[in-house]
Amino acid sequence: MNKKIIIANLKLNGNVKYIKKYIEILKKYTYINQKYRILIAPPILYLYLSNLIIKESQIKLVSQNIDKNISGSFTGEISGEMLKDINIKYVIIGHSERKKYHKENNIDILNKIIIAKKFNIKPIICIGENIQDYENKKSKKICKKQIKFLIKNNNINILKNTILAYEPIWAIGTGKNANIKHISKIHKYIIKYITSINKNIIKKIKIIYGGSINKKNIYNIINNKYIDGLLIGKSSWKIENFIKILNIIE
Ligand code: PGA
Repeated sequence: MNKKIIIANLKLNGNVKYIKKYIEILKKYTYINQKYRILIAPPILYLYLSNLIIKESQIKLVSQNIDKNISGSFTGEISGEMLKDINIKYVIIGHSERKKYHKENNIDILNKIIIAKKFNIKPIICIGENIQDYENKKSKKICKKQIKFLIKNNNINILKNTILAYEPIWAIGTGKNANIKHISKIHKYIIKYITSINKNIIKKIKIIYGGSINKKNIYNIINNKYIDGLLIGKSSWKIENFIKILNIIE
């Protein structure tokens, strides 16, 4: 069965006690794993510990970052080689918070995708428009531009075996989710655009949504046929809350 993906993005939250409790509780809800592929992105410092705890469960881990270099004088960075060393199979790339606070640009994003793929780590590539572009009805144009950049500066295969996360910047951490009509319109457009370039690649890409998912909107959004999964921030931070919203879609 082709399971939809649910990713808990814990961002800059937690400590050893929290991570242990979070994963131990989540592991008990095995029935959720039967329907969805559950992934957690803890702070990178806790990936190793998380890896020890998830053992034998179906939960998968996601790195919140990867450096574009493999090794060398890059203080504070984390490499694809290191992630592979501890068996991490997914990485978030191009999140708007990294663009905003760490000035990551399109070239950085492309290089990070290339490096991740080199180490067999599946990139979760974030795209999405800001509020002005949304209000000016430029959402499609902006998403296309971001995808086109990757294809133009590499080739269509850069998208093969990736997850595209449509994350409108104005919806992230704001409590204002995009409505289902808008999300499915954008997802459909992305599918159409990529298919127009290569008919087969699209089968190797998942398109998920992220931005203020909560207990009120999760059901409609996850059940839309154009949406392959969700990237959830705030609503996933308290494990009790996360379990509650998973139970809504169970
Ligand atoms: P949010 O975050 O659910 O808190 O809006 C989503 C994300 O940043 O991926």
